[in-house]
Amino acid sequence: MDLVSEINNRKRDNLYRNRRSISSAQGPLVLINGEEFLNFSSNDYLGLANSDILKAAMVEAVNEYGLGSGSSQLVVGHSVAHELLENKLTEFLNRDAALVFSSGYMANLAIASVLIDSNTIILQDKLNHASLIDAARLSDGKLVRYRHSDIDHLKTLLEKHKQNNLVVMTDGVFSMDGDYAPAAEIASLCKTYNAVLIIDDAHGLGVLGDTGAGLLELQDLDQSQVPLLIGTFGKSFGGCGAFISGSAIYVDAFIQKARTYIYTTAMLPSIAVAMTQAIELVSNADEHRKTLCSLIYLFKELMQEANLGASVSCSHIQPFIVGSADKTVGLSDALFKNNILAAAIRPPTVSKNTSRLRLSFTAGHNKIQVASLVQEIKNNLNE
Ligand SMILES: Cc1ncc(COP(=O)(O)O)c(C=O)c1O
Repeated sequence: MDLVSEINNRKRDNLYRNRRSISSAQGPLVLINGEEFLNFSSNDYLGLANSDILKAAMVEAVNEYGLGSGSSQLVVGHSVAHELLENKLTEFLNRDAALVFSSGYMANLAIASVLIDSNTIILQDKLNHASLIDAARLSDGKLVRYRHSDIDHLKTLLEKHKQNNLVVMTDGVFSMDGDYAPAAEIASLCKTYNAVLIIDDAHGLGVLGDTGAGLLELQDLDQSQVPLLIGTFGKSFGGCGAFISGSAIYVDAFIQKARTYIYTTAMLPSIAVAMTQAIELVSNADEHRKTLCSLIYLFKELMQEANLGASVSCSHIQPFIVGSADKTVGLSDALFKNNILAAAIRPPTVSKNTSRLRLSFTAGHNKIQVASLVQEIKNNLNE
């Protein structure tokens, strides 16, 4: 493989990825090279990544449990801290059982080794996150994708493959578009076709629902309708790690069979303690959710007033579709020169000609910051 020309081609096509080193905590304002930037690219939707309460919980837990978890969960890495986190999750989500993973990517990949055999068809929304797609790709089953949120298409495919074992996987809130999956309709189809439904609500948890229990709470769906729910702690919960949750038999099967659970070092116990506390904060974060809603509303209103159009998303993830990778990078760079972080998302993360700024809002932002984002997009769009 000629890596040098591959990388050069990426540079030529404006698809080359750069990292920026941040020297402060996450928040609406971050420091890069000593300069302050307005951050509209973070998934820290409730502003918990720098919470004093969570930092104190973590420091205390480091003093109790030390730093590393020592091994994988099935050797000696499973601690009381993980057990308490799993108990807290089941209570918060109103589900029978939960299992903690080191990351959302690993939680999703686990599905490949637990639920899919060579007779399984895995039906996935076209816009699902890469980790769901990779789970299917790494499995012995066959991946079939349905058009984005298209229930009729999903139904046609379920009918076509009804002799197989069927698994349906979807994002809850779509990570690059911010819209919601029609979860209730998908759940009802899955019941009809005896398909296992798995929803990854990484971006809905914390933000949606009266207590922040996500899209399922918002759409009033329980474990009998959505047997497997996946979530991450790296977004609204302000930390890292992830979980799957469902019936006790599912959780047991994941413990026995999930390669990304068995063959990796367990989540740090201090993170488990902090995330247990984060669930408590999330379930009482009504004011944060209200603030976030009003900022999203303001953003959409200002975009319309500025004739910049409005996305279909009504969530904290607002894509501003520019089209070509060149123009998107140009706009993102121009905003950066004006001290605004708005990441350019390009293929292969999104499909060709839908390159975009993926703007994300948090409860820590304020109205003035949102207004200046819109103003700077307008000022720099055609430069
Ligand atoms: C829908 C979705 N699932 C899973 C993940 C991966 O989670 P983690 O960052 O915990 O690996 C992400 C994003 O990072 C995501 O957007």
